[in-house]
Amino acid sequence: MTSLAVLAYLVAAVCFIMALRGLSSPVTSRQGNLFGMAGMAIAVATTLILVPQVRNYWLIVPAIAIGGGIGYVVAQRIQMTALPQLVAAFHSLVGLAAVCVAAAAFLDPAAYNIGTPGAIHVGSLIEMALGAAIGAITFTGSLVAFAKLQGLVTGKPLVFPLQHPLNAGLGLLILLLIVWMCAGQSGAAFLLLILVALALGFLLILPIGGADMPVVVSMLNSYSGWAAAGIGFTLQNNLLIVTGALVGSSGAILSYIMCKGMNRSIINVILGGFGGEAASAAAGPAGDRAVKQGSAEDAAFVMKNARSVIIVPGYGMAVAQAQHALREMSDLLKKEGVDVRYAIHPVAGRMPGHMNVLLAEANVPYDEVFELEEINRDFAQADVAFVIGANDVTNPAAKSDPASPIYGMPILDVENAKTVLFVKRSMASGYAGVENELFFRDNTLMLFGDAKKMCEDVAKSLA
Ligand code: TAP
Repeated sequence: MTSLAVLAYLVAAVCFIMALRGLSSPVTSRQGNLFGMAGMAIAVATTLILVPQVRNYWLIVPAIAIGGGIGYVVAQRIQMTALPQLVAAFHSLVGLAAVCVAAAAFLDPAAYNIGTPGAIHVGSLIEMALGAAIGAITFTGSLVAFAKLQGLVTGKPLVFPLQHPLNAGLGLLILLLIVWMCAGQSGAAFLLLILVALALGFLLILPIGGADMPVVVSMLNSYSGWAAAGIGFTLQNNLLIVTGALVGSSGAILSYIMCKGMNRSIINVILGGFGGEAASAAAGPAGDRAVKQGSAEDAAFVMKNARSVIIVPGYGMAVAQAQHALREMSDLLKKEGVDVRYAIHPVAGRMPGHMNVLLAEANVPYDEVFELEEINRDFAQADVAFVIGANDVTNPAAKSDPASPIYGMPILDVENAKTVLFVKRSMASGYAGVENELFFRDNTLMLFGDAKKMCEDVAKSLA
């Protein structure tokens, strides 16, 4: 590789690091995205123009055109709420690519400068085997995650007897197959390795319940990074190794942060069998218990007369795309002299940073948006908690009911506000399928309706 190519790769690697740094805060996330795009453009252009082994333009250019075209259409059409499953689907492609590259290198090692068939360097065989195994696990694991998030298979944990010993056995078998493959350069061992890893990916994700899927997606993100790093070793491409390691380690850190947000240990998530059915649409066991119901006019009256209002957005705000109407409503409240702030739970919505992205899209000032730890104590002094399309992240069962699937998850203490307004369409439970006791409290007023329409109506009453 020419020194110009090495230099360009270095610049691209620095861009990727700057991208991750930028994405760590909503204030700098746009800039982070630009760095990522620039880094990727430099990486692709350098590989196409300056890497001498890359010659088959008649294959590469149409492939990029087809893949890029599909990506463009998907990105235009995708709903924000469907991003987690899209990310899972993309991870599966990275896993599959790792398996394909490893297979190509095994079948035609001379093309990769790693020996000849039957006489491949042992170091390369180990890289290939690890890349193929991690890639295959990522591929089937991500497909299962996609199917669960898309509602194609049940979000319930699918558990069966001897599941963990079986998975441990398959893990051990993978190690033995790697040894066999490296010692004997055996094609049969390589094929078996891929098949067993495919089965393990499937079995690992199957028992994980809906409520734990966020952690799973970020874990698979991490696996896909390590699989890419594995491809980098096989292709002897330093940039791919660096990029894969960045994705792998940032995915691992994100999994850790999400586990902390949900107060779950990573082992607990991986062993699975936890986390209930995805969003139950049923009214739940509310039965005939009475709730206080209010209108947009009532909400406008209460908030207009408040000194301080804390808005708690959740998944329902994303579904209703209510962020713009919500900002207009809060602008009117601010004009009335009300102190308006937003409280964000780390797992509100359906992906990390979901609420921050939506509020940023609606130009909500960043200094009005607070993380759970920063604002939780302030609910006790707030006159109103305006909970819009959020449910699980406010549910006190997380503190009081050890049998609840969300037990232990830190929640936003909205109940401490003088009045709690809940905007939602019905008495249905949230993602974890758990009834929320707060709906029945004396200081709660239910505002039934679509989140966007409700904000528009409140704004009309305020104007
Ligand atoms: P949820 O607990 O899922 O509650 C959302 C509520 O929004 C529902 O109760 C629903 O009630 C209401 N809603 C839906 N559409 C609406 C609309 N158009 N207008 C008004 N309300 C609407 O959401 P949350 O409080 O944000 O909690 C997130 C949950 O998702 C947690 O359990 C978390 O573990 C899980 N999860 C999070 C992630 C990440 S990374 N954030 C990923 C996957 C899963 P109605 O049907 O009555 O309207």
